[in-house]
Amino acid sequence: MSVEAKLEVNGQTWTLPALEGSEGEKAVNISDLRLSTGYITLDEGYGNTGSCISKITFIDGEKGILRYRGIPIEELAEKSTFVETAYLIIYGSLPTDSQLAAFSDLLTQYSMLHEDMKFHFEGFPASAHPMAILSAMINAASCFDDKIMHWQWKNLKDFEAAAAKLISQVRTIAAYAYRKSRGLPFIYPKRTYKYTRNFLHMMFSAPDEDFEVKPEVAKALDLIFLLHADHEQNCSTSTVRMVASSQANLFASCSAGVCALWGPLHGGANQAVLEMLEQIHQTGDDGSRFIAAAKDKNSGKKLMGFGHRVYKNYDPRAKIIKKACDEVLAHLNISDPLLDIAKHLEAAALKDPYFVERKLYPNVDFYSGIIMRAIGIPVEMFPVIFAIGRMPGWIANYKEIMEDPKSRISRPRQVYIGKTLNHYVSLEQRQ
Ligand code: SDX
Repeated sequence: MSVEAKLEVNGQTWTLPALEGSEGEKAVNISDLRLSTGYITLDEGYGNTGSCISKITFIDGEKGILRYRGIPIEELAEKSTFVETAYLIIYGSLPTDSQLAAFSDLLTQYSMLHEDMKFHFEGFPASAHPMAILSAMINAASCFDDKIMHWQWKNLKDFEAAAAKLISQVRTIAAYAYRKSRGLPFIYPKRTYKYTRNFLHMMFSAPDEDFEVKPEVAKALDLIFLLHADHEQNCSTSTVRMVASSQANLFASCSAGVCALWGPLHGGANQAVLEMLEQIHQTGDDGSRFIAAAKDKNSGKKLMGFGHRVYKNYDPRAKIIKKACDEVLAHLNISDPLLDIAKHLEAAALKDPYFVERKLYPNVDFYSGIIMRAIGIPVEMFPVIFAIGRMPGWIANYKEIMEDPKSRISRPRQVYIGKTLNHYVSLEQRQ
């Protein structure tokens, strides 16, 4: 049944086509609005604007629902792994045994960086933020692969290799960035180690002794990667799609995604949450002073890890991570005062009218840092862990654009409020 929308402006009426998604999401298609009406729309921050039609991830913010290719995040968190979920997100269905083995083999095959990449790491100061290194080195890595550098989307086999290379090498780059920041020698990936175990090996092993990875720790980090794997058209995924729409290569598009993710309002929030909790702890505040500041617009403070553009209910990922927090800390026999502060902040905020009225709940970043801190990952690496997890989602969105024969370059319009026509004035006349 075709649905139509009517737009009336100054007595003139136009009919616009409307459409409905498979989960009942409704949209007015304004693709021809300017041509037929002379009007554009304005939606600063894109809170009401659909940028694409996608089949990858579904979120219902009111109900706190998140599904990758239709499968609820709760089921994947309990039954799947990051690598299997990455395959699901990129290729659209859960892999068979042989498909999973082939994908895993590709990740192993591509885990090493080109040896000359080490010279690039040497150029960074030890204090360089690992997100700056990650974004730069993803582009640097593409320079060692002609097929990626001179990308022409034609061949699925080439795509599969490029996708596996990016998912695998982002881990190696991240670990090398950490080692570089600590003045430690790089630890090469081991072909016998699976994805997350290999990352922890590259992060924490010594040249002469492999880091002993507790299964609970590897599982907890694998869960964090899985929970971050995609999240429809968030800021960084929209950035990847924007860059991909110009037919830039996969690595360049995802390198741009890293930069967008780095912001403290987005993927940098997990680092900001830990810094916030540390500050509360060091000032002896039980959280109530900080909450008061977060409600005061003039304080410049926000309750980091709280609120979401889409979720107006509890972020389902936050629920899962909070439970994993308790389990990991119990396994490691760690009692972290920052977790107690986080739980106190959550309990206080969920009763506070300011947060309740604005439907501000904990998001994925509120508890994730507690687990990463318990594992021994330094706070500046938290957004990097987010980026490793989000890589499959960015790659899937890239693939969706490349497979769309109607895909065109993204080029939004604007409402201009600057000076109207004026003319050049010579220097003498400007005094
Ligand atoms: C991620 O989009 C995604 O899917 C992102 C993500 C993903 O997986 O990709 O889920 C990952 O980025 C999670 C969000 C991480 N960021 C933070 O935790 C930073 C803190 N949160 C806020 O900055 C904010 O909530 C945002 C950025 C997440 C959402 O911002 P919006 O949708 O633009 O909402 P807003 O800033 O317009 O806030 C609406 C009101 C405002 O008050 P009023 O003007 O109505 O009085 O709520 C207030 C805001 O001041 N508010 C907060 C707050 N978040 C919103 N007040 C205090 N603390 C907060 N955290």
